[in-house]
Amino acid sequence: MDIQVRVWRQSDPSDAGRMVSYDVKDISPDASFLEMLDVLNEKLILDGDDPVAFDHDCREGICGACSMVIDGVAHGPEKATTTCQLHMRHFKNGDVIDVEPWRAAAFPVIKDLVVDRTAFDRIIQAGGYITVPTGAAPEAHSVPVPKKDADAAFEAATCIGCGACVAACPNGSAMLFTAAKVAHLGLVPQGQPERDTRVLDMLRAQDEAGFGGCTNAGECTTVCPKGIPLTLIGRLNSDYRQALRHQ
Ligand code: SF4
Ligand code: FES
Repeated sequence: MDIQVRVWRQSDPSDAGRMVSYDVKDISPDASFLEMLDVLNEKLILDGDDPVAFDHDCREGICGACSMVIDGVAHGPEKATTTCQLHMRHFKNGDVIDVEPWRAAAFPVIKDLVVDRTAFDRIIQAGGYITVPTGAAPEAHSVPVPKKDADAAFEAATCIGCGACVAACPNGSAMLFTAAKVAHLGLVPQGQPERDTRVLDMLRAQDEAGFGGCTNAGECTTVCPKGIPLTLIGRLNSDYRQALRHQ
């Protein structure tokens, strides 16, 4: 496949940035989107140009690092798919593909396609933990967890912290991410001691980081590669109201 990519190039946070077009030739349809960028970067390096900076780690859909907007959609055109799991067979020979970083006030661009997502870390630090008792690990069955709660907690825990929900939201809101993190601990008995403080502290950290509010646009769940449902935001709001009543 021969394609053209128009890539956001920004040398540092203070640079205004611009789209730059590159021809990329002889790409296998079985190559991943990141492998296509690898081919582009090898050419740029051989030509003495600066390679395109982009984030990646696992390349198997579990680390959440490969954040980029492809043709206007966070993680690209395939549903429930991270950028690293997106393959070039989903594009056509001759396509012109736009590639941009996440666009959100709380995720400033560091360089090219790399954004600073430490705002998510601060939300996790504010409440993403349970009380840790010292001593030996408890016997696995000493705290029974109903199957439906365990399944729901596991579903929430599949959030990989990629930030696509924020990038897609017209308000730059992190509510789907925060809702998943609050739910995956709040749904199991081990997460109950901090249930109130968790939701209050994580929402406070979210607001302090500059994320916008949720207005039920629903764009977040549409692009989420892990299918985190919008209902978890309803659950988060319910937990928040309960925590305020307990104050
Ligand atoms: S909720 Fe989905 S889109 Fe948002 S950070 Fe988690 S995995 Fe990514
Ligand atoms: S590189 Fe880890 S999820 Fe894409």
